Amino acid sequence: MNNSVAGFSKLSKEDKINWIANQYFSTPSEAVALLKNYWNADEKIQKLHDEFIENTVSNFYIPLGVAPNFLINGKYHTIPMAIEESSVVAAASKAAKFWSARGGFKATVINTEKIGQVHFIYKGDVSKLELFFAQLKSKLFDSTENITRNMQKRGGGILDIVLKNKTNLLPNYYQLHAAFETKDSMGANFINSCLEVFAKTLKEEALAFESFSEEEKNIEVVMSILSNYVPNCIVRAEVSCPIADLAEKHIENPQEFAAKFIQAVQIAEVEPFRAVTHNKGIMNGVDAVVLATGNDFRAIEAGIHAYASKNGQYSSLSHAKIENGNFSFWMEIPLALGTVGGLTSLHPLVKLSLEMLEKPSAKELMQIAAVAGLAQNFAALRSLTTTGIQDGHMKMHLNNILNQFEANEEERNLTRKHFKHNTVSHSAVVDFLENLRK
Ligand code: HMG
Repeated sequence: MNNSVAGFSKLSKEDKINWIANQYFSTPSEAVALLKNYWNADEKIQKLHDEFIENTVSNFYIPLGVAPNFLINGKYHTIPMAIEESSVVAAASKAAKFWSARGGFKATVINTEKIGQVHFIYKGDVSKLELFFAQLKSKLFDSTENITRNMQKRGGGILDIVLKNKTNLLPNYYQLHAAFETKDSMGANFINSCLEVFAKTLKEEALAFESFSEEEKNIEVVMSILSNYVPNCIVRAEVSCPIADLAEKHIENPQEFAAKFIQAVQIAEVEPFRAVTHNKGIMNGVDAVVLATGNDFRAIEAGIHAYASKNGQYSSLSHAKIENGNFSFWMEIPLALGTVGGLTSLHPLVKLSLEMLEKPSAKELMQIAAVAGLAQNFAALRSLTTTGIQDGHMKMHLNNILNQFEANEEERNLTRKHFKHNTVSHSAVVDFLENLRK
């Protein structure tokens, strides 16, 4: 069957659904019914979702959970988490409860600088380009005044613009490399608008620069775009307590636990195969908050993993040590988040999540997301170095297995009762259900 289609984007939503159903499904009516089953009953809300992206045919649900008892810088938070993976919210909640009894989390925003670049090609004398840039710089600021006025009133704007010579990497390749402060907005639109004006000004002014030859005047702008790598937009999250205070269920010997925990972190610091999984555990927490608060998790992921490789080898984002009888665990990560603009005032559940967090500033949200990541990492490492991950993770995953086998209420109750005292594994649950059904 030919599955290509012309003019699909111009079809109505109804026609798009019918086309997909007829093209790919043996029972088209069932596919149509399923897609429509996930539409929101409130037409206004559905229209909002339809218009977030293009060619929308339905909604794709991800659960929104909450992790309470997060004591951060002396204040309690209940953290909204949008995530599909079982045991993440339980793990975050457990770590929050654990640390709330040990002084809580400390979080500090170290800096908040965002980056954007105009990438261009200049074929000519570098010293003339440097002279040109010295004259151009103030014009770049002037030409963006109407875009930056409001941001400046809020205390933000363009921090600096530098000319970067990248000809050691690619022939004739240069950049206008600009730093921005975007306050409570993530700043993508603001930065990209400024950059496009920079690019236009750069080209126009080059044409009028008398010292340039005809070839030099002809600067070619390749592209103007923000960078999602923000190594100067860093938040630090940390916990610490006397080693003896680590004692709890499954931590009978806190000294031994702390030492093993630190070994686990050190392995992630030196071994990329482990570091990727270790950092994935951190991202369980970070992404869930980023998603629930309407931020761009792809940008955050890309930026954080680049930061994890900043020393030339992919490594652990978190670190741990014992000093003077104290156990400390911390991480610093780049997080360019916004609490205004984008989806923040559009998506009803994003609005609700931000309200639950008591309408945080972007800096406060950076702290909360980083703490969720550190908590998640603590919970995972705690399990890995004590009971093993499967014990708790599979306990939480039990419902998914029961759903997969369409267990009835009685089967669910009996299975849950049995696995309170037995190790959960996929095959053990299947065997148990099969025996029940015999
Ligand atoms: P537990 O000790 O069996 O839990 O832990 P509990 O029943 O004793 O309850 C203690 C607290 O945990 C509760 O306090 C809750 O805070 C929380 P309470 O509310 O009773 O006052 N909790 C729950 N919260 C919500 N719903 C629940 C629930 N159960 C407990 N149903 C737990 C069980 C799963 C928390 C623990 O074993 C754990 O933290 N495991 C780690 C799980 C994890 O890291 N999951 C992430 C997915 S695995 C992964 O992707 C990452 C990884 O590969 C990363 C890496 O390798 O580093 C592991």
